[in-house]
Amino acid sequence: MISDEIIKNNINNTVKETDFSGLGEKYKGKVRDNYTDKENGKRVIVVTDRISAFDVVLGTIPFKGQVLNQLAAFWFNETKDVAPSHFIENPDPNVMIVKLCKTFPVEVIVRNYITGSLWREYEKGEDNYGLGLPSGMKKDQKFDQLIITPSTKADEGHDLPMKREDVLKLIPEEKYAKMEETALKLFARGSEIAAKRGLILVDTKYEFGESSDGEILVIDEIHTPDSSRYWIKESYDELFGKKQSQKMLDKEYIRQWLINEKGYMGNGPAPQLSEEVIVTAAKKYIELYELITGEKFEVVEGNVDSRIRKNLLNKGLKVEENG
Ligand SMILES: Nc1ncnc2c1ncn2[C@@H]1O[C@H](COP(=O)(O)OP(=O)(O)O)[C@@H](O)[C@H]1O
Ligand SMILES: [Mg+2]
Repeated sequence: MISDEIIKNNINNTVKETDFSGLGEKYKGKVRDNYTDKENGKRVIVVTDRISAFDVVLGTIPFKGQVLNQLAAFWFNETKDVAPSHFIENPDPNVMIVKLCKTFPVEVIVRNYITGSLWREYEKGEDNYGLGLPSGMKKDQKFDQLIITPSTKADEGHDLPMKREDVLKLIPEEKYAKMEETALKLFARGSEIAAKRGLILVDTKYEFGESSDGEILVIDEIHTPDSSRYWIKESYDELFGKKQSQKMLDKEYIRQWLINEKGYMGNGPAPQLSEEVIVTAAKKYIELYELITGEKFEVVEGNVDSRIRKNLLNKGLKVEENG
């Protein structure tokens, strides 16, 4: 396990934002800087160390970008027989080069347990997805079968729940049915691997796109702690029985700190993260990486920004506009 000291030493050695205009048109997402190379049909995704919660960027966490990027790469590889993805290669621990796709405007969320936002809606008697769930379910209870809760992919602000019939106004049924089928298969594979590592894959979000030759590909990231909820398997039954919170390995730690210590739920300016919170969050990300992959997390010493630049240049990529 990584020491607190290494994390503290790297607290300012994080990737906040990149400026590689030579790679193509830039889209700055909440977490990733994306460069579109239309000519070659590629997209360079630089996974920064930015952390967001409640759709607000809060700051940076050392090594988070590397963890997310390498976990996504791990999962694309582990699921490539289930569904083709946009993955091409990783020129750097923080970078993924992918096939540029036309994105479908819907996020496909698969859930195996009723928790989080779905639980909060259910508790209020809402059925925003038209699921018709049975009454009397308990918080964190497992469903009899996987369910899908599609959401809008909002450019700004929060993603909103959609009913299947609304999705079909945006995506032809045969394509959406393919996405649903793929999402369920991916989730099954994810759960299977997570279970071997003592984890429960609780829910996750998938994004799909269409490649230039019309193939539907899994895009974005998969089964990362930013897009998924993981619980510790061993303690599930006991905690569920006692109506206590599940032990989580995901962004929930930061969310709980914001709510409990700062009274913050996404409105107004984000509070500053304390050093303790940053170090703990970094450790949790790295812990999850090692648990899932079964491999030791490799810290690369030195400035991350200049390393990324060097690795991209070594790939023959033009980083600067006039370079
Ligand atoms: N292969 C791809 N082709 C086109 N767009 C993609 C591809 N993979 C991911 N994206 C998009 O790139 C962005 C990734 O950056 P992110 O930080 O997640 O942004 P956001 O704040 O919009 O979620 C997302 O908007 C995602 O939909
Ligand atoms: Mg995103």
